[in-house]
Amino acid sequence: MNVLPYRIPHSRDVPLKPSTPTTLIAEEEVRRRVEELAAEISRDYADKGEVVLIGVLKGAFIFLADLSRALDIPRRIEFIAVSSYGSNHVSSGAVRLVMDVRGNIEDQHVLIVEDIVDTGDTLRYLIDLIKSHRPATIRSCALLYKTDRADANVPVDYIGFQIGDEWVVGYGLDYAEQNRTLPYIGSVDPEAG
Ligand code: IMP
Ligand code: MG
Repeated sequence: MNVLPYRIPHSRDVPLKPSTPTTLIAEEEVRRRVEELAAEISRDYADKGEVVLIGVLKGAFIFLADLSRALDIPRRIEFIAVSSYGSNHVSSGAVRLVMDVRGNIEDQHVLIVEDIVDTGDTLRYLIDLIKSHRPATIRSCALLYKTDRADANVPVDYIGFQIGDEWVVGYGLDYAEQNRTLPYIGSVDPEAG
């Protein structure tokens, strides 16, 4: 039997408002760096048996998908969802748990996979929360790290790229839910209309 893709009528992506992010990190550059991170993580966890990757929704979903497939070690996938920004770009500082991990991570080797560390509030909160599940080890990986803003006391074990104080979109990251699935990382001016 032939299997044909079902065509959803009118599924073209129509931007809600015209916005043109400036390319900050090209698709190819992201791909290469994700592979490097995966190689480094694979080496570090080679003798650990299995790593549990905890993707932080929503922003990390694309990074987690690519990173996890580039690993050559046994791994499990979990998700956790937090909210801190609502739909704008001003950090409230208060992080709210939306969904905890569902699988058992006790005595497991956990790697938190984040899209971006801005102030570090979210990651600090996540580390404390995940510690309460008593994993064997806990490390963190962020594709992007805002060097000028991040609290240096929040430990990030693997960093893809250090960036300046700007708002970035694409590869999972959004501005007000826009531009999340751009294949590259671009910067936008949230103040512009
Ligand atoms: P933090 O708690 O200040 O470190 O902020 C972390 C969270 O804010 C990230 O997980 C993102 O969801 C969001 N965020 C921070 N900066 C950006 C950005 O430039 N673009 C998109 N999301 C961002
Ligand atoms: Mg995030």
